[in-house]
Amino acid sequence: MSESQSFRAPKGIPDYLPPDSAQFVAVRDGLLAAARLAGYGDVELPIFEETALFARGVGESTDVVSKEMYTFADRGERSVTLRPEGTAGVMRAVIEHGLDRGALPVKLCYSGPFFRYERPQAGRYRQLQQVGVEAIGVDDPALDAEVIAIADAGFRSLGLDGFRLEITSLGDDSCRPAYRELLQEFLFGLDLDEVTRARAQINPLRVLDDKRPEIKEMTAEAPLMLDHLSEDAKEHFDSVLGYLDALAVPYVINPRMVRGLDYYTKTTFEFVHDGLGAQSGIGGGGRYDGLMSQLGGQDLSGIGFGLGVDRTMLALKAEGKTVGSPARVDVFCVPLGEQAKLALVKVAASLRSSGVRVDLAYGDRGVKGAMRAADRSGATLALVAGDRDIEAGTIGVKNLSTGEQVDVAADTVVAEVISRFG
Ligand code: HAM
Repeated sequence: MSESQSFRAPKGIPDYLPPDSAQFVAVRDGLLAAARLAGYGDVELPIFEETALFARGVGESTDVVSKEMYTFADRGERSVTLRPEGTAGVMRAVIEHGLDRGALPVKLCYSGPFFRYERPQAGRYRQLQQVGVEAIGVDDPALDAEVIAIADAGFRSLGLDGFRLEITSLGDDSCRPAYRELLQEFLFGLDLDEVTRARAQINPLRVLDDKRPEIKEMTAEAPLMLDHLSEDAKEHFDSVLGYLDALAVPYVINPRMVRGLDYYTKTTFEFVHDGLGAQSGIGGGGRYDGLMSQLGGQDLSGIGFGLGVDRTMLALKAEGKTVGSPARVDVFCVPLGEQAKLALVKVAASLRSSGVRVDLAYGDRGVKGAMRAADRSGATLALVAGDRDIEAGTIGVKNLSTGEQVDVAADTVVAEVISRFG
């Protein structure tokens, strides 16, 4: 390896740098603002967990678990996995810390990186960023609607409008097994290729999501879960839709929706943006009423979502919108000489402690370079002083848009600048 070798970020993983990083932060925080208004509390959980948690929680037969996990043995020979999604880890923490024995529902939110070894393409990354919420322990359709409305409000608060909410019900234990058999019976009666037949055996619902025209045509008349819901699941679904209508959250019913994770029951939804090409899902979620007991906890219900921060940024770009303001300063200090530098370093610190954003020309680049840096900084004022000015007890305050400069007594400059910024 040569010493001059340069490094690149791992394949399929974006770096966010200024000015885009300001947008990243605004999107991440904006998407959760509505959750905070509804009482969801933050959790910070491990980036990796015991591998079995995801295998059991997300499902062995899913692509996420069978093909996409970053799994490795740690130095103690324990199999650990970088979290591919957030719900399983939240459930693990809720059970481990007994939150499920307190007031219900437990309402939690989170943001951070998740890891899936997928084939990188536009909008599909190996380290993806999500924000999510989980509401655990109450099986109430109004809570489903709350969770969905929070996601909808999050996207809209950023100015997005070119998306739609697709929703369906995947039924529950009392109706899904019979439906699955019915669907398999239908699929096995078709002239399917071997791979698709195998898929029909393992996860027949996924065949309904096949994008190939010939498969679409063959499955056009396939039985749909929505037409075979139990009384209870149907009532739940209708009630969720009623609440969404009341909240004026628009939706379309997509009875062929398939999610990549196994834990979903009843209400299941996805936010789809048409400006993103193939990777059009900007968020998704649903109910997971069997997950907690499957992970060794009580038999409590849950509902939540995960929204893609990266893809929301791409959606904003597709709509020609920006959010967040890149880091800039109000005041730029230009010291010319050692004494001036010491004085302005102190002035900058006092101004910052009063909440004024201040930068300084480091590196003794001379007046020209320093003034260029002042202009580039976006500041409205420059504080300019040489050693002689400091000796005379003055600092120049320059308005960077008009070029006008006045000398101010050094011991009043902080107050003077603060007064200009109100
Ligand atoms: P998910 O649908 O797998 O759900 O992911 C949620 C969102 O994360 C997607 O809609 C998408 O925007 C983003 N996303 C997923 N994979 C990638 C990728 N490779 N690159 C970029 N963005 C991606 C979940 O993860 C569930 N845990 C959501 C949930 C919470 N359900 C209930 N509670």
